[in-house]
Amino acid sequence: MNKILITGGCGFIGSHLSEFIFKKYKKSQILILDKITYAAKKKYISNILSHKRVKFIKDDILNFKNLNNYTKNVDLILHVAAESHVDNSYNLKDNFIMTNVLGTKNVLEAAKQNNVKKIIHVSTDEVYGEIYNASFKENSPFNPSNPYSSSKAAAEMIINGYIHSYNIPVIIVRANNIFGTRQHPEKLIPGCCWTFIKRKKFPIHGNGNQKRSFLFIDDFCSGIEKIIKLGKIHQIYNIGSPFEYRNKDVVKLISEINNLDFKKYSYHVKDRPFNDFRYSINYSKLKKLKWKPKFRLEDKIIEINDWYKKNINIYKKR
Ligand SMILES: NC(=O)c1ccc[n+]([C@@H]2O[C@H](COP(=O)([O-])OP(=O)(O)OC[C@H]3O[C@@H](n4cnc5c(N)ncnc54)[C@H](O)[C@@H]3O)[C@@H](O)[C@H]2O)c1
Repeated sequence: MNKILITGGCGFIGSHLSEFIFKKYKKSQILILDKITYAAKKKYISNILSHKRVKFIKDDILNFKNLNNYTKNVDLILHVAAESHVDNSYNLKDNFIMTNVLGTKNVLEAAKQNNVKKIIHVSTDEVYGEIYNASFKENSPFNPSNPYSSSKAAAEMIINGYIHSYNIPVIIVRANNIFGTRQHPEKLIPGCCWTFIKRKKFPIHGNGNQKRSFLFIDDFCSGIEKIIKLGKIHQIYNIGSPFEYRNKDVVKLISEINNLDFKKYSYHVKDRPFNDFRYSINYSKLKKLKWKPKFRLEDKIIEINDWYKKNINIYKKR
């Protein structure tokens, strides 16, 4: 790979993935394009920005003309940029449709016009909706249940059209909830760390019995690496984790590592308009490429909590 373009490379997943790709692809030029929304910080990638082969561009994937220029001579696109928070999507904000759907179409169109050899589109397990028992496979039907996951499903439909009409070399990945440092505290795990470090009470949505599988960011990055190397064009890969938790157990775990009484420091609030009870994906297709996740939340949560302690002032609010 001579030139790799990473969209959304200053957000949570994108910043870790940019560092990972920088280390793995030692000869590649890396172009990191990010609009820098509230969820992103340029300083997340400061470790790699001083290197000549890394270039940062502050821009919006909705500016097609610019995007098309940046895509010249690019071999691989990792399309990570998105509006990513479910709670924000309930306010009928068009930015979810603009960035997640139109933005994805722009990435595909730029890839088409510049003959990019491979595009990895980062999607989500939320496109399948909830499942009480068992797990969704890559060919399970879509059933998104909130405006965020609907916009991600819509993006995938656009991709499907581009694959059939123009044979665009895209691979889609659908991941579980991912955890690690640099994630905005609007999300559950960093939100608990931030709140408990500040000795405040954490609001739990509904009864807190919703189940989520959590995948460590490094495991996600190694999954992407496998897919770059061995993934088949036009295929979809679930990137999952066997480590499943109820939301309230996550809150309890993080209250304990902060030496706080869970009952005193948490309270229940009205649930989301619709909150999927459980997400679960079958990732045997990726396991066949000899990938499996290594880390549980318990293995990494102290390290992550410490990061939020050190960086508590980065985020003004949750
Ligand atoms: N975080 C998770 O648990 C998770 C799980 C599965 C899938 N995903 C998917 O992974 C991707 C990244 O998620 P994240 O958690 O890192 O989100 P994030 O909100 O932390 O980061 C998104 C990044 O995209 C950038 N961005 C937003 N709009 C843009 C635009 N119009 N032009 C250019 N850049 C723009 C932001 O500035 C930010 O850097 C998303 O596509 C999300 O759907 C996330």
